[in-house]
Amino acid sequence: MNAIIKDDIVKKFKQRFPNDPIVVKSPGRINLIGEHTDYNEGYVFPAAIDKGITAAFSKSKNAFCTIVSLDFEEVMELHLDDVKAIPKGNWRNYIIGVVGEIQKKGIQLEPFDMVFTGDIPKGAGLSSSAALENAVAYGLNDLFDLGLSKHELIFISQKAEHHYVGVRCGIMDQFASMFGEEDRALLLDCRNLEFKTYPLEFEDYQVMLINTNVSHSLVDAEYNDRRAVCEKVANLLDVPFLRDANEASLYQIKDQLTEVEYQKALYVIQENDRVLRAGKMLEDGDLQGFGELLFEAHGGIQHQFKVSCPELDFLVEKGKAHPDVIGSRMMGGGFGGCTINILKKDAVASYSEEISKQYKDTFGKDCSIYFVKLSQGTHKI
Ligand code: GLA
Repeated sequence: MNAIIKDDIVKKFKQRFPNDPIVVKSPGRINLIGEHTDYNEGYVFPAAIDKGITAAFSKSKNAFCTIVSLDFEEVMELHLDDVKAIPKGNWRNYIIGVVGEIQKKGIQLEPFDMVFTGDIPKGAGLSSSAALENAVAYGLNDLFDLGLSKHELIFISQKAEHHYVGVRCGIMDQFASMFGEEDRALLLDCRNLEFKTYPLEFEDYQVMLINTNVSHSLVDAEYNDRRAVCEKVANLLDVPFLRDANEASLYQIKDQLTEVEYQKALYVIQENDRVLRAGKMLEDGDLQGFGELLFEAHGGIQHQFKVSCPELDFLVEKGKAHPDVIGSRMMGGGFGGCTINILKKDAVASYSEEISKQYKDTFGKDCSIYFVKLSQGTHKI
């Protein structure tokens, strides 16, 4: 599979540029549980998937970089002495951002050419942005022999998103995309980046994603607002991050908070705890309990943290009412994108059909169903 993808992109690269490129594959991610906990230095449970960005790079013969998006059929010329975010730059700012953040480290880059394509549905909450950032960071590190570690690369990717895209994201997406392992999910401590891996193969159950096809891309301000609330509460509690708070300490400052702020902080504290319980349940083989936690987590996202939307809530409610679905919740930053569902293998076909019809009848548009394989993180192919 990788060989075919590689041949294809190399061919397209060579149609435009003279040099033989290196080719990097950088995956998107799912997240089992642990939403909006990463920037609170808490716990998350993501995995890299077999959908991602494939990018080819070589040094350029020109005095500037030429970057080609095959999917958007767009080309960008980038001059390395003038690297700044473009208003409404879309995919461009992820690349510009990574280049800019590498330069901020005092590293002198030379002009390069890049051609890329991807198969992660955009706005689905599967981190196409982190996959692209990591592809660029990894590719340039390799091409110019920069000697940066994978940890340095993910922080470059994250800062690109903060400073050039304007989303103050946590580290989950970049970490999962870079450090993902085949067939394993990673229970990650976002404070020290230590993680434990878990297989995700169950005898009678499997993971299925349902995309609402509501794009979450217009909600950067909402995301940053949630982060600001968490920081405000942590400050009032006099702790570095909400990771360091507990329900009792939060309760003590309740009268200094609005109910909305209180519920948001409470959600984060409870969600951190759910991630740890989820890991324990998988270790104990308690899949039903694990599924229950997913439903519970969605309740928190919907009612306390308030980053869901009617389409996501609908899908989760339908899952809850179905005897073969043992867990379901929205995944990623929120306001659209996918739900992650755990359901009986032999119910997959009938449930897919049923939920697709119900979704269409209710919202007048289609949902999309995906099955993913857990895959290796960003690497050269
Ligand atoms: C987005 C961000 C992540 C994380 C999730 C929510 O995907 O990029 O850092 O905060 O939202 O869990």
